[in-house]
Amino acid sequence: MKATVTAHKDYTIAEIDDRVYGAFLEHLGRAIYSGIYEPDHPTADADGMRGDVAELVKALNIPLVRYPGGNFVSAYNWEDGIGPKEDRPTRLDLAWHTSDNNEVGIHEFAKWCETVGTEMMLAVNLGSRGLDAARNFLEYVNHPGGSYWSDLRIKNGQKDPWNVKVWCLGNEMDGPWQVGHKDAEEYAKLANETAKAMRAFDSSLELIVCGSSHADMPTYPEWERIVLEHTYDVVDHVSLHMYFRNPEKNTENFLALNQKLDRYIETIASTIRYVKGKKRSKRDVYISFDEWNVWYHSQQQDRAILQGSTGWPHAPALLEDIYNFEDVLQVGCVINTFIRRSDVVKIACIAQLVNVIAPIMTERGGDAWKQTIYYPYYFASIYGRGTALHLLVNSPGYDSIHDDNVPYLDVSGVHDEENGMLTFFLVNRHANESIDVEIGLQGFTGGTIADHQVMTHSNLEAVNTSKNKEEVAPRKGSGAQVADGKLSASLPPYSYQMIRVK
Ligand code: AHR
Repeated sequence: MKATVTAHKDYTIAEIDDRVYGAFLEHLGRAIYSGIYEPDHPTADADGMRGDVAELVKALNIPLVRYPGGNFVSAYNWEDGIGPKEDRPTRLDLAWHTSDNNEVGIHEFAKWCETVGTEMMLAVNLGSRGLDAARNFLEYVNHPGGSYWSDLRIKNGQKDPWNVKVWCLGNEMDGPWQVGHKDAEEYAKLANETAKAMRAFDSSLELIVCGSSHADMPTYPEWERIVLEHTYDVVDHVSLHMYFRNPEKNTENFLALNQKLDRYIETIASTIRYVKGKKRSKRDVYISFDEWNVWYHSQQQDRAILQGSTGWPHAPALLEDIYNFEDVLQVGCVINTFIRRSDVVKIACIAQLVNVIAPIMTERGGDAWKQTIYYPYYFASIYGRGTALHLLVNSPGYDSIHDDNVPYLDVSGVHDEENGMLTFFLVNRHANESIDVEIGLQGFTGGTIADHQVMTHSNLEAVNTSKNKEEVAPRKGSGAQVADGKLSASLPPYSYQMIRVK
């Protein structure tokens, strides 16, 4: 099968905001406890943070990590996680029916972020709490000193404020499962007042208001319209979430899901434009896609754990999806969508980062390793920075339940002008045909292949485990070439590739 693509240096979408390669860590299952934090682990540092996990995280060069939830945040008291550890209370977590001893709180998380070289993106509790707890948390985190909360932070060992710029106004408040769920009007009024108070402290904060938990919510997209009509002047992003599932094991439909993602983004972008027009506003509001990933492998297992749970276990193995090769293709397609929608998606967070639906897995007291999906996330985060190109794509397609004529070739292109580098991320969605792709490079001067990475596997279900960590891993590609201003390459059936031209 043949496909053609045209890339032109001046035909661009937007500067990609680095923060689309963000991640998420929630007090859920083993994400924090025995994920990033395990004081007895042989690689633990003086603060109890696992060194092996920190190394895997560092390599991803993640710009920001959202914390502490998720559903967890909607009944969380941030004050439980400050002060001497021995004085911190153990609390019941209503979201996941577990308990949390609060050994990790804002100080520990902030220090870990520094270790792995990332920024914090914090969520306030607008479920069981509200404006007052939010403004106190903000003062604790960002005020230099001379006030009750900032002086308490200093007393607790952190002299300098952390200056966190990006804040989420609650989590998935449209969801009836959320502690303190509200209807759109109720939430919008609370979010607006909270945002006003937070801005009164610092008008330069970037605030994220809750949009829909997914595109099949009955309130979508009316929720966004109502919420934005109340908050448009004081927020910067609308938060969207989407998880990708394939319980029917239908790869064609599964790999077409990013078409649905694209429509979801387009619908909310239009809603934003509608409210902007209605308000005659000059300011722009963007999308923060702060939870996305494949999530379905562990759901059966979790049902059994949660339904069979009589107690309130601390850090049980929840949401531990073991990712396969098929998920590499899905994650490649999803990230391609974010690159192609970099005009409106300015933040995105893979959900989550360690153990809980995550690219990194750990064993308690044992190894840490890369799940299959680590790699497409890694390649995009490291090499997908620059300007997104508006590619003209001509590829045969197929009909799926989500969309007709889904192109077999899913591709995005990024131009890093500073380093003179052109990077393409390509997925072949076809089960048994290769795609011979030819990409016209118009207006670019470079002509040599700088890097070529390929991921293929004969078994879509292949996974990486602690015993077999490299079953699904990239290898160096061959055969790609640039001649007469055209890049040509062959993409094997069901494959992910990154090709870089200098
Ligand atoms: O990431 C897991 C959960 O998914 C989060 O807690 C919640 O926000 C979403 O429903």
